[in-house]
Amino acid sequence: MTVSIVHRATGTGLTIGMLFFCWWLGALASGPAGYAAFLDVFTYQSGKLNVIGWIVGVGLTLTLFQHMASGVRHLFMDAGDNFELRANKTTAWLTFGFAIVATAAFWTALLLETPHV
Ligand code: HEM
Repeated sequence: MTVSIVHRATGTGLTIGMLFFCWWLGALASGPAGYAAFLDVFTYQSGKLNVIGWIVGVGLTLTLFQHMASGVRHLFMDAGDNFELRANKTTAWLTFGFAIVATAAFWTALLLETPHV
């Protein structure tokens, strides 16, 4: 039940995330001033992420990995698999575990690659 509610919430979250993505694409296309205005919201003058940048960045990453994991699990259940109670509960918990580990791995790799973030 919880993973189903979280799946709907993360689907909604990703849809809102698409607004940020479109804003980023629009800022890129609009030239230096437009892109600087976008960066001002999510970074300090130094170029490092500010609090909003961290919350939106890590939040959307976690949301995507959680929705992806529970979505794949959902597709297996749509195909008639994973209805045995114990296995069903195990895979539900695995979606949360995957999302946290994948988010941590993604941001660790990003920070190692771009230490100025
Ligand atoms: C990353 C790969 C993704 C997978 C595997 C996936 C899988 C799924 C599945 C299987 C459902 C249907 C669940 C159901 O029938 O209750 C679903 C629902 C949904 N997905 Fe995704 N999805 C993915 C990416 C996205 C993205 C990128 C967005 C938005 C930008 C999104 C938004 C939604 C929304 C809004 C719903 C409806 C949620 C609900 O009302 O319960 N999904 N997804």
